[in-house]
Amino acid sequence: MRRPWIVGVSGASGTPYAASVLGALLDAGEPVDLIVSRAARLTLLDETGRPFRDAHWKDDLAAWLGGRDLSGSDVTYWSAGDLAAGPSSGSYPAQGMVVVPASTASCAGIAIGLSKDLLQRAAEVNLKEHRPVVVVPRETPVTRSHLEHLIALYDAGATVLPASPGFYAAGANASAQQLIDFVAGKVLDAIGVPHTLFTRWSGKLGGASGDRTVRSPEAD
Ligand SMILES: Cc1cc2nc3c(=O)[nH]c(=O)nc-3n(C[C@H](O)[C@H](O)[C@H](O)COP(=O)(O)O)c2cc1C
Repeated sequence: MRRPWIVGVSGASGTPYAASVLGALLDAGEPVDLIVSRAARLTLLDETGRPFRDAHWKDDLAAWLGGRDLSGSDVTYWSAGDLAAGPSSGSYPAQGMVVVPASTASCAGIAIGLSKDLLQRAAEVNLKEHRPVVVVPRETPVTRSHLEHLIALYDAGATVLPASPGFYAAGANASAQQLIDFVAGKVLDAIGVPHTLFTRWSGKLGGASGDRTVRSPEAD
């Protein structure tokens, strides 16, 4: 039985995080069901200069992923307005769901069970079915209400994984892509999918900069 990862892209800034997660899931041979919220079409247009259209989703997805050939990939697309779509039911087989990036609006909607669109409904369904759900919020600074919604998601079993790249994998001169891939790699770690998106901490200071002569201050 096909059991996809559902990837929900909501309308927070950070569509490159979603592209990196999608690319890595497909690289790993994982089946993916994609949902793009209405607001995410705006952020996609703003950040990539490209539209994302229901009727041309495969072409638009391929272009978004850098001209990727999707012919060998197992990707299904569901319109965010389609509340009768497969992922709206707990009986639809899925491994779990990633919301990347996660807007404060989507975090709030999922936390309170609003289900205003398929993305929110699918996330709620995966939580109630006790499947892995990862949300990648991108907002700063945050209000008390943002934090309360994230706590509610955590309490409901979600992994709250802020878009907060570390610099220890690629060093102070890390490229934007390396920082994006760091966050995406943490998402794949959270759902147990192997990846090569970043170099793991080696236990030695200086690994990221390549300067192996760096010594812990404790050693002096
Ligand atoms: C260009 C643009 C950038 C945005 N960036 C963010 C953001 O970083 N974080 C956020 O929570 N909302 C952001 N928003 C606002 C959300 O898109 C808005 O709250 C929307 O209702 C989210 O809907 P959705 O959760 O259904 O995608 C942005 C909106 C636009 C148009």
